[in-house]
Amino acid sequence: MEVFMRHLIHVNDLSDNEVGQILKNAFAYKRGETPKTLKDKKVITTFFENSTRTLSSFEMAVKNLGGEVIRLDVSRSSTSKGETLRDTAANLNAMRPDAIVIRHSTAGAGYFLIPKVSCPIINGGDGAHSHPTQALLDLMTLLESFQSLEGKRIAIVGDIKNSRVANSNIALLPRFGAELLLVAPPHFLPQTSLPTTSNLQDAIEQCDAIISLRTQTERHDLQTYGSLQDYADDFCLTMERIGDKKLVIMHPGPVHRNIDISDFVLDDPRSKVLEQVQNGVFMRMAVMDFFINHQ
Ligand code: NCD
Repeated sequence: MEVFMRHLIHVNDLSDNEVGQILKNAFAYKRGETPKTLKDKKVITTFFENSTRTLSSFEMAVKNLGGEVIRLDVSRSSTSKGETLRDTAANLNAMRPDAIVIRHSTAGAGYFLIPKVSCPIINGGDGAHSHPTQALLDLMTLLESFQSLEGKRIAIVGDIKNSRVANSNIALLPRFGAELLLVAPPHFLPQTSLPTTSNLQDAIEQCDAIISLRTQTERHDLQTYGSLQDYADDFCLTMERIGDKKLVIMHPGPVHRNIDISDFVLDDPRSKVLEQVQNGVFMRMAVMDFFINHQ
């Protein structure tokens, strides 16, 4: 019998109400509640793309709730021997995990796995497509500063076209009232109906928060810009540019220091970059609990 199973590939897999519920739990965990709701649950993490924050954040999240993590060492897995992603998924699924977290360079990789598994698939980032837990933790971080996003202006700065973080934030934040402004040189802008500008100074004056992005050099077939330094000359968040403006400054990491954000701005109290990392664990605890226990 086929069992209906929900997965988190895209932020639109969750309703506004469900996002609210997940946020509420994430904030409760942050206040110190840690029920062992994943006791006896086993989660497989399979990261085919590099990661510092997201992999350890998911693993910490599962362990905080009393669950166990089995990490597939991708460099030693049979995918490198030519096994298809679908076959890898079917084999992992045969071990009866309670969830599989996957990061992959192919957009939509999670969708390939769904027909082969009987547990939730959680997307830890797929190509330039989607990174739902990053957008959820960004929403959580913004809500700590603003209480509500209604009417708040948020600039997303950088390589928006190639960024799954930008895509997921563009899909999620306006659902909660945020007004987005995309700030980038023309070659980093996607086709969009959102307002755009290439003038960072203007954007800083107009906005309440800024999400800065790393240039996704690994996703460029062809370099269409001079150099990262040329980009930094116009788009790096520096003290000179932000002055004493009241702002919330975020970045999903890894940061290209002094290209995306200057050393001084990273150390400024307006920078919430490490707060995002901290919130990421609480948010992923809430996401794993939701998909494993509340299907
Ligand atoms: C991002 C990613 O991998 O999508 N990082 C992250 O998950 N914290 C952003 C990036 O790599 O630039």
